Amino acid sequence: MEPLSSDARAILGLELPTDPRWVDLAALSLAEILTDHAWCEQKAAITCITILQRNSDRAAVVEALAPIVTEEWGHFRLVLAELKKRGLQLGRQRKDDYVNRLLTFAQKGGSHDDRFLDHLLMMALIEARSCERFKRLSEGLDDPQLRKFYRRFMESEAGHYALFIELAETHVPKEKVRERWGEWLAFEAALMKELPVRGDRIH
Ligand SMILES: [Fe+2]
Ligand SMILES: [Fe+2]
Repeated sequence: MEPLSSDARAILGLELPTDPRWVDLAALSLAEILTDHAWCEQKAAITCITILQRNSDRAAVVEALAPIVTEEWGHFRLVLAELKKRGLQLGRQRKDDYVNRLLTFAQKGGSHDDRFLDHLLMMALIEARSCERFKRLSEGLDDPQLRKFYRRFMESEAGHYALFIELAETHVPKEKVRERWGEWLAFEAALMKELPVRGDRIH
């Protein structure tokens, strides 16, 4: 995985760290966590396809996102394999309060470019928060194999976070990206404060 560029690193900064109780709750609900995680990966793949479809005239987007679709689908399959190993089934998709609430912040009107920017920044944010949560799991679970499992996801999602930011900066003036990113970070921090700490959800 490519290391984060200094630009991307400078603006990662989630404003509110995850409640330390979350990983202990997650450890008690591993089956739920794995199912929720699997669906998160599936949604990531679908969203990359959607962004690619809506921006097929932007070569950099097509080129960058086509392989990420494969990666996210590969992640989905890795989690499926982990579920199977544990005698668990995928189960039904859960209501995703975190993502649904983030969607309310994304611009519905405005120009195509504004919606494009918000789509990319929302994805960057979900990757950043996922990365943080996977880090917690990689450090806080007892099972050494699962710790390694989540370490790999953490690294991969950090790379995706950087890619979405860089993609935004390729098409939109950097100042505008930074300004809107700050707004997203503030919105997400307020949302995290409001959502209950649940051990059965990745977010
Ligand atoms: Fe992923
Ligand atoms: Fe990702």
